[in-house]
Amino acid sequence: MAPLLQVKDLTVRFDTADGTVQAVSGVSYDLAPGETLAVVGESGSGKSVHVLAMLGLIPKPPGRIAGGQALFEGRDLLAMSERELRSLRGGAIGMIFQDPMSALNPVLSVGYQITESLRTHMKLSKKAAMARAVELLDLVGISEPQRRVVHYPHQFSGGMRQRAMIAIGIACEPRLLIADEPTTALDVTVQAQILDLVRRLRKQLGMAMIWITHDMGVVAGIADTVQVMYGGRVQERGPARQVFRDTRSAYTWGLLQSLPDHDAPPSAGVASARRLVQIPGYPPDMMNPPPGDPFAPRNPFATERCHSEVPPLVQAPGASPGHMVAAWYDLRTARAGAAA
Ligand SMILES: Nc1ncnc2c1ncn2[C@@H]1O[C@H](COP(=O)(O)OP(=O)(O)OP(=O)(O)O)[C@@H](O)[C@H]1O
Ligand SMILES: [Mg+2]
Repeated sequence: MAPLLQVKDLTVRFDTADGTVQAVSGVSYDLAPGETLAVVGESGSGKSVHVLAMLGLIPKPPGRIAGGQALFEGRDLLAMSERELRSLRGGAIGMIFQDPMSALNPVLSVGYQITESLRTHMKLSKKAAMARAVELLDLVGISEPQRRVVHYPHQFSGGMRQRAMIAIGIACEPRLLIADEPTTALDVTVQAQILDLVRRLRKQLGMAMIWITHDMGVVAGIADTVQVMYGGRVQERGPARQVFRDTRSAYTWGLLQSLPDHDAPPSAGVASARRLVQIPGYPPDMMNPPPGDPFAPRNPFATERCHSEVPPLVQAPGASPGHMVAAWYDLRTARAGAAA
């Protein structure tokens, strides 16, 4: 099956008064239609910037696409005009962001905000769009949608606003839904409900997803594939199960070790309790990243080469097909050596 999205060597920089931030460096991956990719990593690892850059949503300047391609259904998003991008965003590519209070317009009713995208992208009449907005609110589990549709964001609870954001994100039945920490601000019960909802919608609509999260429980609950980022680079990527069971990157291993009960692989539906805690050391200064593997200074298994040369992302030896790692060390031997 032809990929829906092909990211090739995506590189993003921010030129600031203090220097150039190397936010995203050489990120490449394919996403198949219907596939869910979870992107994880500590704060500042380039998760948000890499998707915002594809959507044409980083401020330029200081932001700049320093290289690469992002082919969505064969067309390069990075080479598109603002007009072309606008017609994709909210249409074929839906988006849900972390903070619905800032993403929703406080002076427009929720219904109006849903109908806006239906009218722009699907050319629905005002009446048809309003009927569809009510259906969508119902679909995302908002009770009395008929009455709620005319309410303003401040009349909604946090969980309801997040549901409204999802309704906007999926309104035009996108082929790709990009979600950036959409459940982080919600309590565990609401998070679980939202994840259930998203799983159901994904099945119903057959959409692919890129899901950015700090939460390994969320990853285990929804991801086909997981991609671990650090210092603007991909450290490891593969089928979610394989990455949890046959971890090959010391950084991924550190993330999993730092989970409350790391003996069992993260399981579906267990949110929040598995939020990542700190790995010893500090994330790299992205204006002056280390010359080699960005994780090397914090990696107990780093070899000399890790400190001087960036490892390419390659098929992990002996791992399942598509399980990739960027490492000069072999985690299995290193861990066995450390245990001995
Ligand atoms: N407008 C900007 N100007 C300068 N630097 C920026 C800008 N936006 C992002 N960056 C930098 O780009 C890097 C990647 O940031 P990004 O927001 O992608 O991290 P993230 O992985 O999404 O983190 P978080 O988990 O905290 O959301 C960081 O070093 C960040 O400081
Ligand atoms: Mg982010």
